[in-house]
Amino acid sequence: MEWAKQYFDQPPFPGQCLGCGEHLPENAAEASAHRAYHAIVEQVFDPKPSFKLAALRVKHGAFISVTAESPWWLNERLYQIARMFKYEEGYLHAPWSIGSHQTGIGVLLTDVFGRVIGASVVRWMPFTDGPCWLCTWAWVAPPYRRRGHFRAIWQYLESAYPGVLPDPPFSFEAALFISKLETMPADVIKAATSRIESKLPI
Ligand SMILES: CC(C)(COP(=O)(O)OP(=O)(O)OC[C@H]1O[C@@H](n2cnc3c(N)ncnc32)[C@H](O)[C@@H]1OP(=O)(O)O)[C@@H](O)C(=O)NCCC(=O)NCCS
Ligand SMILES: [Zn+2]
Repeated sequence: MEWAKQYFDQPPFPGQCLGCGEHLPENAAEASAHRAYHAIVEQVFDPKPSFKLAALRVKHGAFISVTAESPWWLNERLYQIARMFKYEEGYLHAPWSIGSHQTGIGVLLTDVFGRVIGASVVRWMPFTDGPCWLCTWAWVAPPYRRRGHFRAIWQYLESAYPGVLPDPPFSFEAALFISKLETMPADVIKAATSRIESKLPI
């Protein structure tokens, strides 16, 4: 699993699973929990074809929306991606949760085989000085990075949610992209530029 190498300690600590970064379990009960977690990590980082998602793609196009009203399994898929985003970027909480309280709109970018290549979430923010759509996070599966998928996600968001703005803090890679967007207001460009200059982790 090539994708794992860049996310986990190098060299791995003794007994570390190279696929998901967890300790390899020593007893049967833990082995079962490890297998379940391992499968989730693998499904997110190295997505497999899905008939259900391929069928939805035929109906809705490459970008499939996920809201509180969407089927549980779609919410679950977005939640697992959010968990990996949290893990990769070092946040405390996954930026998606499943339930009727959810007000965000998730977007899953799928390929023709129903693989989920990337995801993003937008939220309507009723700011008194100017309500707007905010893109709160985006993530592209490692094997598919640097192929223009984030650019495609952004173009989709701009067309579906006019005036959408990215919500800082930005990752270094996202800041590189955002800093070059001509549609961005000066304060967003400034946040992206200072992120690039600082070169620090979020
Ligand atoms: C940031 C992220 C979404 C980019 O996804 P991607 O599909 O690889 O991005 P794209 O291929 O569409 O690249 C678009 C532009 O972003 C910039 N960029 C993205 N990744 C980059 C990298 N590793 N190094 C340099 N520039 C990069 C470039 O300007 C690129 O344009 P170019 O290819 O014409 O030079 C992806 O790296 C990711 O999921 N990272 C982890 C989560 C994250 O950082 N999310 C954003 C949080 S705000
Ligand atoms: Zn594992």
